[in-house]
Amino acid sequence: MRSVLRLLWAGSSLLSLSPAYATPDVSQFKKVDSLPDGPALPPTEDPAYDDNLMIWFNGGPGCSSLIGLTTGSGPISFEGNSTRLVANPYAWSKFGHVLYMDQPVGTGYSTASEPYPAIDNDRVTTQFYDWLQSFFAHFPHLQSKQVHLMGESWAGIYVPHFASAIVDNQDSFPIKLRSITLGDAPVGNPAAMSTVTIGKFLESQQSILQIPNDILAVFKEADETCGFDDILEQATQFPPGGSISIPGNPEILNYKSRRRSRDLGDMFTGSCNTQPTTAEEVRSSITQSSCSGPCATFSTAMDYLTTAAGRQCDFSIYDVSQDCSTIDSLSLLASYFSRADVQIPLNVLPFSSVTASNSASQPTPSPFSACNSTVLSTVLGSQSPRAPIYSLLPTLVTSHNISLHIFFGEYDMLLNHYGAELVLQNMTWHGTQGFSHPINRPFYPDNAAPSVSRYPHSSSNNRKRNSPTASGAGRFASERGVTYHLFWGAGHNVMASRPREMFAYVRDVVVAG
Ligand SMILES: *[C@@H]1O[C@H](CO)[C@@H](O)[C@H](O)[C@H]1NC(C)=O
Ligand SMILES: *[C@@H]1O[C@H](CO)[C@@H](O)[C@H](O)[C@H]1NC(C)=O
Ligand SMILES: *[C@@H]1O[C@H](CO)[C@@H](O)[C@H](O)[C@H]1NC(C)=O
Ligand SMILES: *[C@@H]1O[C@H](CO)[C@@H](O)[C@H](O)[C@H]1NC(C)=O
Repeated sequence: MRSVLRLLWAGSSLLSLSPAYATPDVSQFKKVDSLPDGPALPPTEDPAYDDNLMIWFNGGPGCSSLIGLTTGSGPISFEGNSTRLVANPYAWSKFGHVLYMDQPVGTGYSTASEPYPAIDNDRVTTQFYDWLQSFFAHFPHLQSKQVHLMGESWAGIYVPHFASAIVDNQDSFPIKLRSITLGDAPVGNPAAMSTVTIGKFLESQQSILQIPNDILAVFKEADETCGFDDILEQATQFPPGGSISIPGNPEILNYKSRRRSRDLGDMFTGSCNTQPTTAEEVRSSITQSSCSGPCATFSTAMDYLTTAAGRQCDFSIYDVSQDCSTIDSLSLLASYFSRADVQIPLNVLPFSSVTASNSASQPTPSPFSACNSTVLSTVLGSQSPRAPIYSLLPTLVTSHNISLHIFFGEYDMLLNHYGAELVLQNMTWHGTQGFSHPINRPFYPDNAAPSVSRYPHSSSNNRKRNSPTASGAGRFASERGVTYHLFWGAGHNVMASRPREMFAYVRDVVVAG
């Protein structure tokens, strides 16, 4: 976009303004030309893409979209493990206007009233939608753009709900919502996204995770006795044979079950910490149901991997390939964006404190944290039921002609890609269930949507360690308005490890129509 940073702070400031205001005042929004320790920000971008407006959301809940902006999609990113900024050659702003949204309120630089107002998903959605109307009232030239909502992780919950609010109000407030993109998002039943598929994931990453054969064998044994093999078998039929059900209530995560089911967020609050290290301990952790429920493969895998000895660096559920050289980008964000000299040009410090400081010392900056734990625990802890995401998507695609793009990184264990593939094969859109062809079309670092004729189907089984080279950047499928891309060599935050590939993806998939 022409003004990434100028619009950055709109979230907090606009939320308090009613869209009914007749003549919105945009003079409060200042254009940012450069930031401390950073390059000049790029001026205008390719006019051919001027018709697109992408709105990006990070997840959490409660994580700032500045994470997305500075880790691979925005015009600037941190240089290595430093708080110096460099220009990012893969900025998505080449393909249209990009708006980074800090929400729910309280996230990033945005502020919230007391008591905290975004107490559940419905409130989050309503507040976003009110804000969006206000945003377009302030920037009416953007309301006619082709809108693409994009989000990662928990934002995969927000985005379909936001899209539903937009289409439900289309008559009174028309918005050209063209696509929604969900990256490493909890799109499905938590049992499908974790418990049912974790054994297959562990097997695929056995060497990186250094899992001995006897331990892996226990997970495979559980997949058979718990019926997960059967489910996985059905999910690898193209086209699938019918609705894929999950029997029972494995790990108390099956939405379908009448017994109390947990949400994915609960997974990390109630670890039983069995600390299994031997095959026998792993087996009893999976089968003892008093703690995590029956067939607790996911909790056991977490407990096993976080206790397993011999690791030099901490195991990361976000990227199982992570080693000691991994940079903690959230700390970089916190230290950089907490600086007064950064908050002044960003218009974050209240004007009065800036003018007051003219002669005297610097004003006091507000502390910035990349993720806000109050927002996280409030939204995750909400008691109100929320429709599962896979139940919202078919209507958006089928009845509203909105393209759905889903992508995953192969090294993400928090939300593994087999889970997403299972959920998609169980979903019906445009009258047909799932993909009818295997998800095995290769895509390339600079071409995210090669046509089938140019690149015939090929097996990727002979890949050893996945790196996006001649063997491709990943594999994908595209049918009836839905695309799915699996990125090699990427964890939960795909753009961070694969900015070049994501750049091509945004161009060839997201804004391509
Ligand atoms: C997190 O959000 C809460 C609620 O708005 C706020 O009170 C708190 O100051 C925020 N924390 C940080 C570190 O920004
Ligand atoms: C498939 O969809 C049905 C109907 O929505 C649901 O009951 C079932 O749990 C889903 N299965 C999986 C594996 O998500
Ligand atoms: C990055 O810098 C911090 C602080 O200087 C240091 O603690 C950390 O080990 C560094 N990380 C890497 C991967 O070099
Ligand atoms: C659906 O949207 C695409 C653009 O994304 C457009 O080309 C097509 O005509 C639309 N189809 C209908 C039936 O509206």
